[in-house]
Amino acid sequence: MNKNYFKSIGVALMLFCVMPGFAQQADSVKYIKAGKFIDTDKGKVLTNQVIVVDHDTIKAVGGNISIPAGAKVIDLSDATVMPGLIDCHTHLTSQPGENYYDDIFRKTPIDLAIVAPVYAKRTLMAGFTACRDVGAPAFIDIALRNAINNGDVPGPRMLCATLFIGSTGSHGDLNGFSPYLDWIGPKEMSGVANGVDGVRKQVRYNIKYGAGVIKFGASAGVLSEEESVGAPQYTQEEMNAIVDEAHLWGLKACAHAHGNLAIKMAVKAGVASIEHGSFLDDEAIALMKQHGTYLVADIYNDDYILSDYAKHGTPDKIINKEKLVGKTQRLSFERAVKGGVKIAFGTDAGVYPHGWNAKQFKYMVKFGLTPMQAIQAATSSAADLLGWQAKVGSITAGKYADLIAVKADPLADITTLENVPFVMKGGEVYKDELRK
Ligand code: ARG
Repeated sequence: MNKNYFKSIGVALMLFCVMPGFAQQADSVKYIKAGKFIDTDKGKVLTNQVIVVDHDTIKAVGGNISIPAGAKVIDLSDATVMPGLIDCHTHLTSQPGENYYDDIFRKTPIDLAIVAPVYAKRTLMAGFTACRDVGAPAFIDIALRNAINNGDVPGPRMLCATLFIGSTGSHGDLNGFSPYLDWIGPKEMSGVANGVDGVRKQVRYNIKYGAGVIKFGASAGVLSEEESVGAPQYTQEEMNAIVDEAHLWGLKACAHAHGNLAIKMAVKAGVASIEHGSFLDDEAIALMKQHGTYLVADIYNDDYILSDYAKHGTPDKIINKEKLVGKTQRLSFERAVKGGVKIAFGTDAGVYPHGWNAKQFKYMVKFGLTPMQAIQAATSSAADLLGWQAKVGSITAGKYADLIAVKADPLADITTLENVPFVMKGGEVYKDELRK
């Protein structure tokens, strides 16, 4: 190659730089001025930081970044800027209606799919830029995730479990009715699976249609009509098989588990997180700590279920189960925090109205976390649980520009997160009530 070749490349490059296309590229860069900045990785508050965003990604963060003249600036100097929140336990595809039996018998997955984008938008507007959605019928969650990722509808980034895997008669099955009322549709779509081979097959089926995490019912539940709230609903062998199969495919598993024995069985099987975790004894707490298992406890839920569910015609047996669980769950949470168990924020949104996710922070602080720890549970720790720590959970160069801002200091008053006025996801501003 001769010198002229390099010369012509140089000229071409120079031309490229002055062409409008190049200027447009620089246009995608935004400078965010953060008066206060919560570093969720380190658990520190910094002041006067500048965040450089290009397209959907954070390019740089620092206190000495100079902003070029004419650059696009988002001035949040009188606000606190922090990473977008992450809810590790949502059901974006549903929400209780006015009537318990209508919800069960008169709705099809299509009814749910029609309104799911509304719930997804509410969640995003509440400051939740990502979630782990742990159970949805008919792969609606995957359709919703895809529509969000395509930019067709606004919503959080979703890690989806697809079908809840449960045994016959379990929390995931249709319970309390005549044996003539059975699941309608492909059997695998019920998520009901039994035996080591059966549960492995179900895990594969879920993965085939898009699951990014596996969720199963280790114990009975509250909002289903089986008698027990906490009895194990799978054998140790079945739980081991579910988790092992998920791991073979490179996925994590999580377990719905209220009862103490079921919690221990699921932890031993190797789940990444225990959902609910209502009845924890010292041994369960020690076991979770030893295995590094996250606790994802929906400790706001009790308020809403006890105030609203009877109005929807929810049977007394369910309300009575909630009365048994609600308070104990909060005390278990407090003991788990003291015992050093890893905590990630997860609310079971969909049991209560979507968009109210942040109401749970108050209880997490009341029952043992510092406000900073509660925020970390919903940012850096949540990202770690999802396996998305390289992409979300903190405002760091290389991660998605998912961030929120609030006017008052959330470390002084955590309830300020219940009204998030500024939301950016992937560099795009979805809500800005701060600068109007
Ligand atoms: N989905 C859960 C279940 O039905 C909700 C439990 C709600 N109650 C509570 N105290 N967290 O088991």
